[in-house]
Amino acid sequence: MDQSLIEFYDSLSSVDPMELSESVLMKNYGKPSLCFVRGNGAWLYDSDGNAYLDFLSGIAVASLGHSHPKVAAAVSAQAEKLVHVSNLFANEVGPKVAAMLNRLILQGDDSPDGSVFFANSGAEVNEAAIKLARKFGHADGRYEIITALHSFHGRTMGALSATGQRSKQAPFEPLLPGFTHVKWDDVAAIEESITDQTVAVMLEPIQGEGGVVDPGPGYLRSVRELCDRRRLLLIIDEVQTGLGRTGAWFCFQHHGILPDIVTVAKALGSGMPIGACWAKEEVAAAFSAGDHGTTFGGQPLAASAALATIRELIEIDAPARAAELGGLIDKNLGGCEGIRCLSGSGLLRGVYLEQPVAKRVAELCQGKKLIVNPIGENTIRLAPPLVVSSSEVDRACELLAESIREAS
Ligand SMILES: Cc1ncc(COP(=O)(O)O)c(C=O)c1O
Repeated sequence: MDQSLIEFYDSLSSVDPMELSESVLMKNYGKPSLCFVRGNGAWLYDSDGNAYLDFLSGIAVASLGHSHPKVAAAVSAQAEKLVHVSNLFANEVGPKVAAMLNRLILQGDDSPDGSVFFANSGAEVNEAAIKLARKFGHADGRYEIITALHSFHGRTMGALSATGQRSKQAPFEPLLPGFTHVKWDDVAAIEESITDQTVAVMLEPIQGEGGVVDPGPGYLRSVRELCDRRRLLLIIDEVQTGLGRTGAWFCFQHHGILPDIVTVAKALGSGMPIGACWAKEEVAAAFSAGDHGTTFGGQPLAASAALATIRELIEIDAPARAAELGGLIDKNLGGCEGIRCLSGSGLLRGVYLEQPVAKRVAELCQGKKLIVNPIGENTIRLAPPLVVSSSEVDRACELLAESIREAS
């Protein structure tokens, strides 16, 4: 045994984690201003024991709050039983998650059956959706995908190429060919961009990273009709919006449509890395053995977190809870000084400010021990855990309104 390595290892426990991050991690994220060591429900704690009310949930991930006991118990039991076997073998957890997703997406209507591919992140399930659509269109030479400007689908090269944000794409050119980006909320723009090679339209049901931007009424329904008319697949990216957050199990359900492909990740594992790409059976059938894969996707440990998460989201009636508490956000913040309007749905909300002070507002909130997320100069994103209490919503809104007044 190399004793010096053990000594180095032991010395790390006395190093300030913020300093260590600075020195050993790449600089692709902004410099963090806090380091959390513990979480419970809607609260995060730093090493000095300061409690922060978390209205971001690790970017719409901790829908059940931090360290939910049922998820922790399921993960711990699974860790002691079997963590990983690869996809060369079946496991007893992943398929149950797939069956539940099928049920939640189809809402009990089993007539168009569907199936699932598991991966480990939002970007990866979107990669799977892109590859599945390309494989589906391969026989008749169709591979182009139309997506929206200001959309966000992830950072891997395929998902980045789908993303409609030049600033994120430019440093990594050349991108994957075959993506056309059109104006959001404009069905005619999609129609005008369809070519003989177009195979799919890919959209978020609310643009999350783009600023919590809602589609206009009827947009998604019209896109569905257009896709049906022109024989295109409709891919809906529910990575941020899925699993109850917007007041429906999936945000597309507010619009009375059923996509051909749905991707979901963030909230699925309550923080354990797992994502799913769901597709209608006739589309999913385009993948045959060897077409796509991943070492970790759908492994028992991550799947156990997803299974426990889904069960608990059902037990708390997550969509109804999100809708009700979202109404409380409207009631508290609507008409407040410095706020132009609110966007989003349920517990995924954009607070549009009169002035470009979002960053300052988030800093002031942090000083008051409230975590919110500035996106762009004018918008604050709120994505609290769905288990947040009404008094916690009231408190957060009070602190946010106060911070907006101070910043303005
Ligand atoms: C709509 C959407 N799609 C995809 C992604 C990428 O997910 P991940 O960061 O897990 O790769 C995100 C992340 O914010 C997202 O909001």
